[in-house]
Amino acid sequence: MPIEVPNYISKIDPYQGGKPIKEVAREIGIPEEKIIKLASNENPMGISPFAKKAINNASSEIHRYPDGNGYYLKEALSKIFLLDTRQIIIGNGSNDILELAARTFVTKGDQVLYSEHAFAVYKIVSQAVGGEGIEAPSDNYSHNLDAFLSLISDKTKLIFIANPNNPTGTLIEKKILKDFLDNVPDRIVVVLDEAYDEYLEDSLKSDSFGWLKDYKNLIISRSFSKAYGLAGLRIGYGTAAPELIEVMNRVRQPFNVNHIAQIAAVASLGDKNHIEMSRSINNFGMKQLTDAFQALDLEFIPSYANFVSFKLEDEKTAMMYYQHLLNNGVIVRPIANYDLPEFLRVSVGLEHQNNTFIKYLSNCNI
Ligand SMILES: Cc1ncc(COP(=O)(O)O)c(C=O)c1O
Repeated sequence: MPIEVPNYISKIDPYQGGKPIKEVAREIGIPEEKIIKLASNENPMGISPFAKKAINNASSEIHRYPDGNGYYLKEALSKIFLLDTRQIIIGNGSNDILELAARTFVTKGDQVLYSEHAFAVYKIVSQAVGGEGIEAPSDNYSHNLDAFLSLISDKTKLIFIANPNNPTGTLIEKKILKDFLDNVPDRIVVVLDEAYDEYLEDSLKSDSFGWLKDYKNLIISRSFSKAYGLAGLRIGYGTAAPELIEVMNRVRQPFNVNHIAQIAAVASLGDKNHIEMSRSINNFGMKQLTDAFQALDLEFIPSYANFVSFKLEDEKTAMMYYQHLLNNGVIVRPIANYDLPEFLRVSVGLEHQNNTFIKYLSNCNI
């Protein structure tokens, strides 16, 4: 008898990640060291030397289960951000926090709101629990929070907001975001996804952790995959009122974050210099890329994160550019699955990597 898959599961469009370097090396026949991956918003500087040292020293412990409560990481986060450790939950990537929010607060038939062109995982985790994903139309590629408010119904249980958003890189001004939180009924959980927060200048950051005392329905998710450079270890965290964290912990896999990831995250938090350098290299690289787009007369969406999406004539042209770049060992990301088929998204790399990307972007003869 065939195995019956629930309809809402069969309907999920699988997540499409950036092409791995090894796969491109195999398929195109270019040596791995010549390939430049600008497809997954990773930190081109790599990880903090503090984290590297901590990882090297941590291997003697890996025959044991990790600390399921993430004690040391929560202690470190609580000191830095002045939070109670009961306000913190550790995740296998911030993706885990997004999924835990859906698994904890959404059941079959509930509605989950997120924006058009917003991070693909919101739709997937909502559908995976039988929820109905509702897309709020965007405003010039940005979240339109008035549209969110007008779509709230009795069935709405969860709202995902990405700030900055991936793949558009747009940022919601903090005052607008706070007004929005004031207008969301407090029976609805709001997840504010700040995976790229470390790339923002201080003046642009929302005081989101400070807002937790006012909004008991707010969850903030943060990542160690982006500016901290720990994408391969899978670690992120969420902060919220202790009551929300407590119920999410019931659903969480007991040992969801591995030992090495926890050790590396704690060490990374102690290296402010690495974050500052990452931000400044990103600012430099972003200017390199956007100057090139302007010189080539290519439209792009101004971005506050470590990537930027730029527009070609149509989907066919975008795919020709994508393939031309790939054939020359530069991996970028098509974003047709975000309803932006004529765009490509490029992550900001190191200066020479950006230059190589610009070289092949410029010499693509369509
Ligand atoms: C907006 C946003 N949120 C969350 C994530 C998930 O990141 P991670 O699970 O690596 O922390 C990503 C990854 O690309 C992202 O772009």
